[in-house]
Amino acid sequence: MSPLDATTSAPDAIVSVRGLSKHYKSGLRALNNVDLEIRRGEIFALLGPNGAGKTTLISIICGIVNGSEGSVHVDGHDIVRDYRAARGLIGLVPQELSTDAFETVWATVKFSRGLFGKAPNPVHLERILRDLSLWEKKDSKIMALSGGMKRRVLIAKALAHEPRVLFLDEPTAGVDVELRHDMWEMVRRLRESGVTIILTTHYIEEAEQMADRIGVINRGEIVLVEEKNTLMQKLGKKQLTLSLQSPLESVPEGLREWPLELSGDGQCLTYTFDTQGNDTGIAMLLRKLGELGIDFKDLHSSESSLEDIFVSLVRGGV
Ligand SMILES: Nc1ncnc2c1ncn2[C@@H]1O[C@H](COP(=O)(O)OP(=O)(O)O)[C@@H](O)[C@H]1O
Ligand SMILES: [Mg+2]
Repeated sequence: MSPLDATTSAPDAIVSVRGLSKHYKSGLRALNNVDLEIRRGEIFALLGPNGAGKTTLISIICGIVNGSEGSVHVDGHDIVRDYRAARGLIGLVPQELSTDAFETVWATVKFSRGLFGKAPNPVHLERILRDLSLWEKKDSKIMALSGGMKRRVLIAKALAHEPRVLFLDEPTAGVDVELRHDMWEMVRRLRESGVTIILTTHYIEEAEQMADRIGVINRGEIVLVEEKNTLMQKLGKKQLTLSLQSPLESVPEGLREWPLELSGDGQCLTYTFDTQGNDTGIAMLLRKLGELGIDFKDLHSSESSLEDIFVSLVRGGV
């Protein structure tokens, strides 16, 4: 934990994690030498399978769990030495539903704001509750709310003190479609207002739709951090599969220089092409097939997605 850490962060980093490891008492190493910089104003998705260490990482950044080695700074504040300043900048929507069942919605968000030493601001709290469709429930006791409503309350609580960095730990696990869309909508609005958002998920679709950058974590190690668009471009290959009228024994001589693969039964030809190129080559391929008298009964295309990338990273023994 060198005092230089804060000043050596990238200038646009709002959260800076250096050499962070966590050993639980059980002996389990949940995080192993994690380095991660979150940029000011971005939506960062931390993607990883169950048990990868996502909640552990978030809990350490938010000061709920202590790291074993390494350091974390939030806007230049060391989360251990300068806990209050760091924590005041952070809002956390935890993975587990945990609220004071006997309180009303209004009392809970009001209390939450007060905890951070912020002056009362009923206008701000009203706006949050309205944005989350909770306004009509403001006098309801939390225990009387549905699971989805309780999750909305957790979000309202996390936003009550106007945090600059919002962590959402598996925000849409097990929530209905309506809440998921409301949540995505809200996340986009918050980002527009300058809030940095870090969400963890094991839903690839969520990372794909929401994130500016994606980090993949597996077995306590960050295995990749990349701009979502770059990631999609690098690996966004498409495949065209042709079901043939009559099976082939091998790829014909005249097609050898094409990136074609013949299925084991000789019934399908698969052509892999780059979606970034100006010309996919499909028209030419089809013409060539016609010349060679190879007929097909059906064709369909598929795109390799983040899902393929994710599966290959996580399975690939990294
Ligand atoms: N309090 C704890 N004590 C011991 N092991 C824990 C504790 N919390 C989490 N773990 C273990 O640490 C690993 C990472 O867990 P977690 O951070 O919750 O992963 P994720 O959120 O990615 O599913 C898992 O193997 C989990 O069982
Ligand atoms: Mg988790």
